Amino acid sequence: MKISLLRPDDWHLHLRDGVSLNAVVAHTAERFGRAIVMPNLKPPVTTTELAREYRARILAALPASARFEPLMSLYLTDHTAPTEVARAKQSGFVHAIKYYPAGATTHADAGVSALDKTFAVLAAMEEQDLPLLVHGEVTDSQVDVFDREAVFIDRVLSDVTRRFPALRVVFEHITTKEAVDFVKSQPATIAATLTPQHLLLDRNALFEGGIRPHHYCLPILKRAHHREALIDAAISGNPKFFLGTDSAPHAKHSKEAACGCAGIYSAHAGIELYAEVFEQAGRLDQLEGFASHHGADFYRLPRHTDRITLSKDPWTVPTHYAFGDDRLIPFRAGSTVAWRLCSP
Ligand code: DOR
Ligand code: ZN
Repeated sequence: MKISLLRPDDWHLHLRDGVSLNAVVAHTAERFGRAIVMPNLKPPVTTTELAREYRARILAALPASARFEPLMSLYLTDHTAPTEVARAKQSGFVHAIKYYPAGATTHADAGVSALDKTFAVLAAMEEQDLPLLVHGEVTDSQVDVFDREAVFIDRVLSDVTRRFPALRVVFEHITTKEAVDFVKSQPATIAATLTPQHLLLDRNALFEGGIRPHHYCLPILKRAHHREALIDAAISGNPKFFLGTDSAPHAKHSKEAACGCAGIYSAHAGIELYAEVFEQAGRLDQLEGFASHHGADFYRLPRHTDRITLSKDPWTVPTHYAFGDDRLIPFRAGSTVAWRLCSP
């Protein structure tokens, strides 16, 4: 069996920099036409100028044959100047600004300490119509790690959407029924991305026969009924929900550690894994909207005109990929993915 899709885009991607960037970028460029590239480098990509330089490094790391466009994002801090927003918008290559609560996740120490410190920037973004991308978890250590997304909606996100009603917001990598319900309840300005891991796994996958660091990401995997709500949203045809892998490469040694990093690498099968989800739900007909239409429409970019083909031809994922001096352990390492990307 084969399916053909308008070329998809990845609306949430970590490419890193240097040798790590070189190790991963081809996987994304083989499948996706564009990707929103996360700015959580060390140091973070806080200005349009830094984004211009990072974009050039990404373009230089692409295989010669690639036709892939990195869509840049800036990293919001307590010190972001409202004037940076107009500069970002005018650049034509910055498509969003990313909000990480300080300390919420990998390289988020420079994130925002209290959202009200950024209200002038959010007002400028609303004015300039530049989307805000949200890592939606509170960092309060008193709040259970499995509840941090739901609490974030109540404490932070609902206030932002009320205060800045014209601001376009992408609630990134949502993991809970509460987030699905919130996004559905909001106007068309509020959308969400969904990752393959949150659609394919529930939190049992963290402890299958032992602790599984390669299934650890943030927000953390949730209970089965949350996964069901995410699948329903993905296959619903609702244009508020679209593809964002959150593919987040980390060296093997920093995942398999006493204090391991959060992040799952999925770019090697970044569209194929979603095909599994949609097929299992009996809704392969909805995959193209989710992967190739909704995100482009939300970001007000043209849909692609070329197509990709996937065939139902299971393949075994390598046990690892080279990653500088280290190794990268991909999602499904050593086991199969049901769909295969056909070469053009
Ligand atoms: O699991 C995650 N990894 N979640 C994030 O929010 C960041 C990402 C990363 O950069 O590794
Ligand atoms: Zn991410």
